Order: sequence, then C-alpha cells, then structure tokens
Amino acid sequence: MKTNSKFFKNSRSLPVDKFFQNVLYDKKIGYYNSKLPFGGKGDFVTAPGVSNLFSEMIAIWIVSTWEIYGKPKNFNIVELGPGDGSLMRTLLQVFKNFPEFNEAKKIYLFEISNLMKKLQKKNIKDKSIKWLKNLDKIKKGPIVFFGNEFFDSIPIKQFKREKKLLFEKHYMLEKNLKIKEIFKKASIKDAKEINSFTTLKNINFIEYPKNGLLELKKIIKKIITLDGCLLIIDYGYIKPNNQNTLQSVVKHKKNHILNNLGKADVTSHVNFSLLNEFFLKNNLIVKKIIPQRQFLQNLGIRERSEIIAKKMRFSDKANLYLRLNRILSPKLMGDLFKVIVASSSKKKKYLGFDS
Ligand SMILES: C[S@@+](CC[C@H](N)C(=O)[O-])C[C@H]1O[C@@H](n2cnc3c(N)ncnc32)[C@H](O)[C@@H]1O
Repeated sequence: MKTNSKFFKNSRSLPVDKFFQNVLYDKKIGYYNSKLPFGGKGDFVTAPGVSNLFSEMIAIWIVSTWEIYGKPKNFNIVELGPGDGSLMRTLLQVFKNFPEFNEAKKIYLFEISNLMKKLQKKNIKDKSIKWLKNLDKIKKGPIVFFGNEFFDSIPIKQFKREKKLLFEKHYMLEKNLKIKEIFKKASIKDAKEINSFTTLKNINFIEYPKNGLLELKKIIKKIITLDGCLLIIDYGYIKPNNQNTLQSVVKHKKNHILNNLGKADVTSHVNFSLLNEFFLKNNLIVKKIIPQRQFLQNLGIRERSEIIAKKMRFSDKANLYLRLNRILSPKLMGDLFKVIVASSSKKKKYLGFDS
C-alpha cells in the first residue's frame, strides 16, 4: 500500500494519464525503467517476440515504401517505442539483402525509457543507429515512422459525459493510502478538444489519448515538411462503445488496474477512428484501417512461411505454424490488432493496403 503514494509525487489526486505516466515511465520507479517486461519470463509478448516473420514483413513494407518514394539516396526511418529492439534487429538483417536501400537508410529510434534504450543498445549493436530526443534533428529526405504497440502504451485520459458536461476521472490517495476513483469537472480546453471530434460525439464514457495525439502532432508536422508516412500497428477498435479499455498484466495474466503498481504493464486499446479523424484534421491522407491478419497476408507472410518451412524439421515446422497462427488468427492477434497508414501524399499506394 505504501508504494501507492510514491506514484502521486506529493499530489493528493492525479488524472488517469498523469498517474499512469508516473507508474509506467517515472525515471526511477516507473515500470519501464525498473523491470524487463518482455518475453516468457516477463509480463507480455509482442508480435516481434512471437514470430520473426512479423518483423520480416515490416522490413519488406519499409523497403517497398522506399521504392514507392523513388528510391531516394537519403531515407529516414523512425521506429516509435522499440521495446527490447527485437523488431529493429530483424529489420537490419533483412535490409542487408537490399544493398541500395541499405546504403540509403538512416535509422532513428524514438524511446522514452532509459532502461529500454540500454536494452536496445545491447540487442541491436549497430553504430549507425541514432536515438532521437527531438524530431527537429532530421532535416532532409522523406521520412517513414512506424510503431508496433506504441500508442497503446501511452497513458490516456478518461471522462464521463453527464447531461452534456464532461467530468474527468482522477485517482485520489486516501489517508489510509488506498486509491479512490473520483471525477472532477473537465478543463475547458480538454472539453473543447474532445467535443471537436465527431468520433467522440454521443459517447458517454470517453477515452482520450491526449498525450498520444501530442506525439502524433509532432510526427505529422515532420511528415508534411519532409514528405512521408506513418504506419501504426496496435491493439484497437474502430467503433467506440463506451468501454473502459485500460488493462494491466503481470506475468501474462490480467491484473486489477490498481494492483502491482510499477510491476505491471498498463495499456489501453487504441481508438482507430479517432486516429483517422485526427490525421484528416491535420491534413494527412489515410489509406485504410485493416486487421493485422489482412496486412500481413497481403505482404505475403504465408508464402514466406512455406518457403522457410521447406528446410525445417517437423518440430520446428510445427513451432513456426503455431506462432504464425498466433499473429494471424482472428481470435488471437489477427483481428484484435489493426494497422493504419497515414501519408502526406494522395497518390502513393502502399504495399499491404492496396494489394
Ligand atoms: C509495449 S512496448 C512495445 C515495444 C515494441 N514496439 C514491440 O513491439 O515489442 C512500448 C514501447 O514504447 C515506449 N514508449 C512509450 N511511450 C513513449 C513515448 N511517449 N515516447 C517514446 N517511447 C515511448 C516504451 O518505453 C516501450 O519501449
């Protein structure tokens, strides 16, 4: 119980997003700065940890995007929230098969946690990669941003609507150090922002990714000035349904949202319709929102698995297909995860979306 108080940092109460920002990303005691979350021994596994084929498909998508932009000599690639660096490690291996692309690529990683940065440095071991604090460092060349499970890990705000008024959920630290949920009238600024989205009209329990949208705003600005696009893959939905999607996991099991603070991962499902509306409002073109299964199949993941399987022993083959099923099956990650591409160009057709 005593541990609860340290996440409040001298405040009696905090909005949901500020509270979980401390719980997850505080430089000393935050989950992502004090624990290694990934893999069988950790708390959760993401698609790059399930199957290397997932990462190979992302590599192909990036190389094809470089071709779509006319094979520029300087091509910026930014991974958002690279976690343990597994995805980037595989990308770099695949990129070696495309020498002209390999020469042109400039890779940047965008990461908030110092512990994750250390882990990425250890796992990737490539001196040409740069860690970005500020997007303004990139001045020329088209730019591609991509992130797997990046937006679902940025804490959201929660509101309820009562008779047209918005009230924001806060957590309050009680005298006995228990945490209580309370609602306070939303700020005029937040209410105005929320009411400007058609997607959030008539919704009475609203999840608003204010910090995620602020990050997106900087990304969009860069895409518009340099030309480029953004690929997002995340656990999410198309139609908001008044649901509270905040969830916590420890050791691969669901956990009460306020238990094991600092020792559990906390995420929310991404509202893809809201992202879509935000991109359009900010002058990007949205191609499509499709399930992860469709995206990976369009990129040829099944054909690739057949080729690899030919050289394998039976047990390895079984393992390969089991893992493939996990990322493609509609009941598992295949439909729950969605993919969106937003671009500064009306005309460009992106692999996986237009095939
Ligand atoms: C759930 S992990 C996903 C890791 C990886 N992309 C994967 O698929 O395995 C979320 C990652 O995003 C990072 N992250 C969260 N919020 C961030 C922010 N505002 N800026 C940069 N990185 C952030 C986390 O530290 C972590 O590396």
